[in-house]
Amino acid sequence: MSEKIVLTGIKPTGTPHIGNYVGALKPLIEMARSNRTFMFIADLHALNIIHDAAQIRQHTYEIAALLIAMGLDLNNAVLFRQSDIVQVSQLSTMLMNVTPKGLMNRAHSYKAAMDKNMAAGLDTDAGVNMGLYTYPVLMAADILLYGTDIVPCGADQKQHVEFARDIAGYFNHIYGNVFKLPEPVIGQSTGIIPGLDGRKMSKSYDNTIPLLAPENELKKKIMRIITDSKTPDDVKDPDTSTIFQLYTHFATDDEIADFRQKLMTPGMGYGTAKTILFDKINAVLTPVRNEYERLMANPSEIDAILADGAARARAVAAQTYDRVHHAMLG
Ligand code: TRP
Repeated sequence: MSEKIVLTGIKPTGTPHIGNYVGALKPLIEMARSNRTFMFIADLHALNIIHDAAQIRQHTYEIAALLIAMGLDLNNAVLFRQSDIVQVSQLSTMLMNVTPKGLMNRAHSYKAAMDKNMAAGLDTDAGVNMGLYTYPVLMAADILLYGTDIVPCGADQKQHVEFARDIAGYFNHIYGNVFKLPEPVIGQSTGIIPGLDGRKMSKSYDNTIPLLAPENELKKKIMRIITDSKTPDDVKDPDTSTIFQLYTHFATDDEIADFRQKLMTPGMGYGTAKTILFDKINAVLTPVRNEYERLMANPSEIDAILADGAARARAVAAQTYDRVHHAMLG
């Protein structure tokens, strides 16, 4: 096991799709096998968007159940709910005082909100609450509280991790060497995972394939993948085929080579190709779906795992926070 401490947070704001599974969740589960990992559900970070407690709770359970069902190694990984650790809010308050306001003005997410407002002819800060504006400070608190070395994340979160590093630097400069400086690690490219229409799979394009949908719904979605108009007798190009691209993320090397060959040989239509894809994805996801459904029907089991994770996380968080409190207030 490496000595590095890995940390990541997942926001409970939506239902995960196959793109999330392949691009983010699977690599995280893999990473947690060989690293001490803090993995939490960032419910406090959901608050600037979702003002409905029931919805946040539901998404929190969904993500926790999914990670457990995917086989997250709970010995190495500390799985918990962000809001269960009161020290994160406390540390966030402390960090506000060494964080330049100008740094927050430069945050991509805040700038995107301002750009959208300007394009719509609204006040630049319309609809922007302080939760959104100070989001990077809370995220810095998440990262710095657990002595994090590495934050695996998507490219969209890189700036936030760099801010955490900057904020740690400002703090250390004033108060001495309290925080370790974290580093973002952008997932090695799994390539673009195409959605139903061939563009990158994304909630904002409305082209996703849900990860935990019942079998018949999964099948219906897959049968709806857009293809070109080649007939069974035509030779097809696997490298521009959404069906083939998706297949590569679920099948073995031999199966992938075999499927490639089939597409490049006259005889197989897209309907058959989609059925092969469905069978493969369904075979991989069925055990995950079954375990997920079992856990969702037994929330007390999820609660117990999250409570255990919170106790382990708190032990580390309390130590860090005490050092900060002592440095700032004596
Ligand atoms: N901001 C992250 C996202 O939107 C979630 C998150 C919250 C996070 N705290 C974090 C990620 C700390 C990494 C580290 O996806």
